[in-house]
Amino acid sequence: MNIIRSIKGRYLGWRQRAVQRQLLAGFDAPADEITRSQWDDSLKNPTAFYLRCFHYFHTRLPEPLREHRAYFETEGRGFGEKSFHVMWFLLFREFSPQSFLEIGVFRGQTVSLAGLLARHFHLDCFTQGISPFSPAGDAVSRYRCDVDYYDDTLKNCAHFSLPAPALLKAYSTDEAARNLVASRNWAFVYIDGNHDYEVARADWDLCAAHLQPGGLIVLDDSGLTTRYAPPIFATGGHPGPSRLAQEVDRTRFREILQVGHNRVFQKI
Ligand SMILES: C[S@@+](CC[C@H](N)C(=O)[O-])C[C@H]1O[C@@H](n2cnc3c(N)ncnc32)[C@H](O)[C@@H]1O
Repeated sequence: MNIIRSIKGRYLGWRQRAVQRQLLAGFDAPADEITRSQWDDSLKNPTAFYLRCFHYFHTRLPEPLREHRAYFETEGRGFGEKSFHVMWFLLFREFSPQSFLEIGVFRGQTVSLAGLLARHFHLDCFTQGISPFSPAGDAVSRYRCDVDYYDDTLKNCAHFSLPAPALLKAYSTDEAARNLVASRNWAFVYIDGNHDYEVARADWDLCAAHLQPGGLIVLDDSGLTTRYAPPIFATGGHPGPSRLAQEVDRTRFREILQVGHNRVFQKI
């Protein structure tokens, strides 16, 4: 069984790389700039917008950010997709956040990207991660057991000469974590911890209550309930966060951007 799974995995990886190479070969000019007024396009046609971000990544995104993604693409250091680096770049450029909270840190790809973007845009952005820093998974995710997730996150931030982010070793539903979230009003929150509906819902409710007016919540893995049709090298998300996104109170939050399975909501 393991051999068959391994062969299937390799074949899928090969096809994913082939499709990406094909797309790259079709880019005969650098991507156009993506302006704020075009973000609505991502809601109307999320698949085309995702591919636009893919093009942008390869032809326009600053080199240090591309290198950061390459580092996390190796040795199983990170999840996510290249286009998500473009999403964070657009969000930091547009909103200049002064605080960033990530729920579900894994090995530090996004907390370190927040640090890198803060440096790139000369921002003073307080960065906080909340995660068990263990292989704790959920109904749809399993993580390796042979990594010290806390040390690894710090090591990966140091690799880019970034200051260590503030890290709390806890489940987002623990009292210490809930108190920490409630300790300030955040500019940006990224929810990417436990993907089970009940936990994602609890994360949303708490973070929504402690978000600045005009602040953003990025909800990972929530694209299944949209028109987004992921290319073979991307995924549409998971049922829990996707259901949650459907239930977001539109009188309190406006959806402003979708990049693949990441959906961005702004507090009104
Ligand atoms: C998909 S990974 C996160 C990837 C990360 N956001 C990134 O951009 O690289 C999900 C992480 O959430 C953690 N996690 C699981 N349950 C959690 C919970 N209840 N609260 C916070 N984090 C949780 C997992 O252990 C794992 O590290």
